[in-house]
Amino acid sequence: MFENFPHPILLAHRGDLAHAPENTLPSFTQAIQKGADGVELDAKLTSDGHVIVIHDSTVDRTTNGKGKVASFSLDEIRKLDAGAWFDGKFAGTKVPLLEEVFETVGRDKLINIELTNYSTPRDGLAKKVCELVRKHNNQKQIIFSSFFASNLKIAEQTLPEAPRGLLATPGVLGLWARSFGFMFGNYQALHPHISSTSREQMQRAHRLQRRIHVWTANTPEEIHRLKDWGVDGIFSDDPAAALRALGRGG
Ligand code: G3P
Repeated sequence: MFENFPHPILLAHRGDLAHAPENTLPSFTQAIQKGADGVELDAKLTSDGHVIVIHDSTVDRTTNGKGKVASFSLDEIRKLDAGAWFDGKFAGTKVPLLEEVFETVGRDKLINIELTNYSTPRDGLAKKVCELVRKHNNQKQIIFSSFFASNLKIAEQTLPEAPRGLLATPGVLGLWARSFGFMFGNYQALHPHISSTSREQMQRAHRLQRRIHVWTANTPEEIHRLKDWGVDGIFSDDPAAALRALGRGG
């Protein structure tokens, strides 16, 4: 999968987050148009079991509604506006279904699905997402990630061919994930925060024949430093600017 992409890969964090409402179809469309190697998105379940794409556990910040995502049915959440908060020109944009993102991104780019059922960990999200990937037969473009090892274990059992990246929180809280959790788990990549990343960490991962994908790098200095250290993937809020920093932009 990764051999078909440049090194390091550039993944657009929640789409073209700097220029469009995050985790929406316009955001993913723009990211692909700007040349990102793929997109990162946040998957969750509605109360009636549909896989949708939204970051927070509530709809408050990124829609005109209020309340917990898990309390909305698909019909209810689709009535909300997920674009106007960012800019009036995106008014009418909906919270997308994961399957709509698959259609929008197409089959040639990577899709990093973060399994983000952090407030409802037993809701069956990982299994449902794996079923959708099987249905679309697009496992060759999927990377799973999560802060919860339990989600990645289900992905491993259900869809073993899709690579898995263990997310690690910054600082001391993410220490276990970055060391023992990563080393002794069956992961193809570590996804650490940029503030807890070093050249040595990348060398350790490479000795294990694994990858490091770092979130979130936005300035040319950050991107140059990570590239110099041998990073395998970068999440950025502004894919066009990041690609320019990587020497791949127009
Ligand atoms: O997976 C990349 C990392 O940035 C976490 O993503 O969307 O939860 O901020 P997010």
